[in-house]
Amino acid sequence: MFLEIGNESAGEFHIVFVVGKNFTHKFVSDAALLEKLGFDGSDESVCLLGEKGELYVGVEDGTDHESFRIAAAKAINTLKSLKIKTASVAIYDQLGTAITEAIALGLLLGAYEFTQYKSKPKPSSLEKILFTAANYHGAAIETGALKAALSKATLVADAVNFVRDLVNQTPEDLTPTSLASAAQQTANDLKLECNIYDESYLKSHEMGAFLAVSRASAKPPRLIHLTHKPANARKTVALVGKGLTYDSGGLSLKPADYMSTMKADMGGAATVIAAVKLAAELALPIELHAIIGATENMIGGNAYKPDDVLIAKNGKTIEVKNTDAEGRLVLADCLCFAQDKVPHLDYLVDLATLTGACVVALGEYTSGVMGFNGELKQAFLQAANVSGELAAELPFNRHLKKLIKSEVADIANAASTRYGGSITAGLFLSEFIEDKNREKWAHIDIAGPGYVEKAWGVNPFGASGYGVRLVSAWLESL
Ligand code: BES
Ligand code: ZN
Ligand code: ZN
Repeated sequence: MFLEIGNESAGEFHIVFVVGKNFTHKFVSDAALLEKLGFDGSDESVCLLGEKGELYVGVEDGTDHESFRIAAAKAINTLKSLKIKTASVAIYDQLGTAITEAIALGLLLGAYEFTQYKSKPKPSSLEKILFTAANYHGAAIETGALKAALSKATLVADAVNFVRDLVNQTPEDLTPTSLASAAQQTANDLKLECNIYDESYLKSHEMGAFLAVSRASAKPPRLIHLTHKPANARKTVALVGKGLTYDSGGLSLKPADYMSTMKADMGGAATVIAAVKLAAELALPIELHAIIGATENMIGGNAYKPDDVLIAKNGKTIEVKNTDAEGRLVLADCLCFAQDKVPHLDYLVDLATLTGACVVALGEYTSGVMGFNGELKQAFLQAANVSGELAAELPFNRHLKKLIKSEVADIANAASTRYGGSITAGLFLSEFIEDKNREKWAHIDIAGPGYVEKAWGVNPFGASGYGVRLVSAWLESL
C-alpha cells in the first residue's frame, strides 16, 4: 500500500477524522446517524458508513499527533478487510505538515501484516491512500511540502516495518548469520560500510563474555558493524544493539511460558540496523555506527554455567550467577568494541530487550532510559514525545550498585535480589563504559514495547519496531 496526492472524489472510501468531538464539521455527512450508531468521536473509536463510503475515526485532542497516528492505524485496520483498492483522506493541518505526516505514518504502520508463514495469505486489496487537496480548514498546503511529508512517513514506516519483518521471523530463519546478511544487504543497497566478524575474531580480541554466551549454540555468532559516514557529519554516534536471535535462558533455563517470544530478543539489533538505514535514507549529517552482538543463548554439554568466571574485552572479570542474564554479557563486549572502534564518539547508546523487570516496572508499552547524563536522558524522553513512543527514566543509585558486587570476580552478572532488576542490569553495563564516555552513554531497555502480544496503538500483533522512531527523532534533534 502506498500514499499519493489525489483529488477529493478519487477514493472509494473517505476517512473522516472527527476531532475534538466536533460533529458540525463540513466532512461529517450525517451527525444524527453517527450518534444513532453510538459513535461519539472519542479516541480510538471508529464507525463505518458502508453505503456512504465513509469511515469515521475519533481524535479527542487535535494537537496530539499520536492520537492522529493511532486513529489512522484504526482506520486502516477497518479498511484493509474491505474489497476496495483506494481510500482518501483530507488534510487536517492548518500550518505545516506535521499532522499529515502523523496520519500517513499511522496508516502505514497500522497496515502492516506479517504473512510469511501463512500457507494461504489473504492480502488486502487496498493499493493506495490518496491525500486530497480538500482541507478541513480551507488552508492550502503546498504540494511540495505535502509530498515531502508523505515520503518522510513512507521512509520511517519502511524502517519500522523492516524491524518488524526481521523480529517476526522464526529463530530458525533469523539466525546470527542471517541477521548479518540483512545488515550487509542494507549496506549494499545504501552503499554503506559493513564489517562482519566471526568467532575467530571474537577469540583473538578476547571477547570472553560474548563468546561464553554463544558457546552452546549450533549457530555461529556474528559481530556486526554497519556505518553511515556522511562527508558533512556534525556528530558521531554509536548505537549498540542486543542481538539474541534466541534466548532459551541457557542452563538457567527459562520456564516454557517465558521462553516463547524470545525470538524477539534481537529487537535492539534490528532497531539499530534500521536506525542506520533510515539515517542514510534521510541523509542525516551524523556519522552513525550500528554495532551488534548476534548469537543464541542455548544449552548443551559445552554451555557456559552459573559459577563460571568470564573475562570481558576490557579485562574485567564477571561471575556468572545466572546464564539468563546473557544480554548484558554480550553487550559488555560490544560496548567495549564500540568504544575501541569509534574512539571519537559523541554519544554511545545501547538498545536491548534486557530485563523482564523493566516490563514489571513500567508496563508493556514503555521503555526504560538509563545513564549518568540527565540531559541526554531528557533528550530521549523528549524524542519519545515527538515520535509518539513511550519512554521513562529509571534512576541509578548507589545502593542498587552494591547488589552486583561479586565475592569471586570483579562483578556479578545478576543481582542478589530481583527488585530493581532493570536498573541493576543498567549498572552492570555501566561497568563497561570508559570514564571519558560516562556522560555520553545511555541505555534503553525495550523489553516491554519491543514485542506486542495484543495489538495496541499503531502496533499489530508481533514485533513493534519500537525505537526506530525514537532514535531517529533523537538524532534529528542533535
Ligand atoms: N531477554 C530477557 C529479558 C526479556 C524478558 C525480554 C521479557 C523481553 C521480555 C533477558 O535476557 C533475561 O532473561 N533477563 C533476566 C535477567 C535475570 C536472570 C537477572 C530476567 O529479566 O529475568
Ligand atoms: Zn536471558
Ligand atoms: Zn535475553
